Amino acid sequence: MTLSHIHRFEPGPNSRSLLLLHGTGGDEHDLIDLGRTIAPGAPLLSPRGQVREGPANRFFRRMAEGVFDIPDLKARTQALGDFVAEAGKTYGIEPPVALGFSNGANIAASLLLLRSEVLSGAILMRATLPFEPVSLPDLAGKPVLILSGQSDPMAPASKELAAVLRQAGGNVRHEVLPAGHGLIQQDLILARDWWTESGSADALVRS
Ligand code: MLT
Repeated sequence: MTLSHIHRFEPGPNSRSLLLLHGTGGDEHDLIDLGRTIAPGAPLLSPRGQVREGPANRFFRRMAEGVFDIPDLKARTQALGDFVAEAGKTYGIEPPVALGFSNGANIAASLLLLRSEVLSGAILMRATLPFEPVSLPDLAGKPVLILSGQSDPMAPASKELAAVLRQAGGNVRHEVLPAGHGLIQQDLILARDWWTESGSADALVRS
């Protein structure tokens, strides 16, 4: 069966895998090096967003910067959730941890709100609350790391996002870094350390 999204899959020896979700204008190759740095040895599943904004790939439509097309976002979230579930069977991987940047972080947040069963956690870099959920998902114990930039104009509701995910039971850590929308070295260090720590906690829960 052909999977719905153009994607890249990089196998790895570890059992925990990463779902890489690029920012506006990126593609399935964009975050591979970042994924390898944060989670060495993890299988990497990296789809390309199916929306075009001019020449740029995105994961959902927007009317203007920061003004999201919510019905489109919700439909694309469902389609991405189906892709992740199908790809998991095809490649033999467990529900991955999402690693999203910007537009990719926003659809990762939407996956947590609407299709949390396809993820085992998330690293959300420069994410905002994409919409107010009608009802809360059950994120009991799911580890989530939110990395925000203190002068990021494109993610105005990162605190609200953290609050909603906590209310849903997620094990949320929110760090606000001295940065804008772009990533800095501290993002990589915090994400790598969080990956290692959340992996040990996961192993304890499973044993
Ligand atoms: C979005 O549209 O998801 C955010 O504004 C970030 C971006 O520009 O991609």
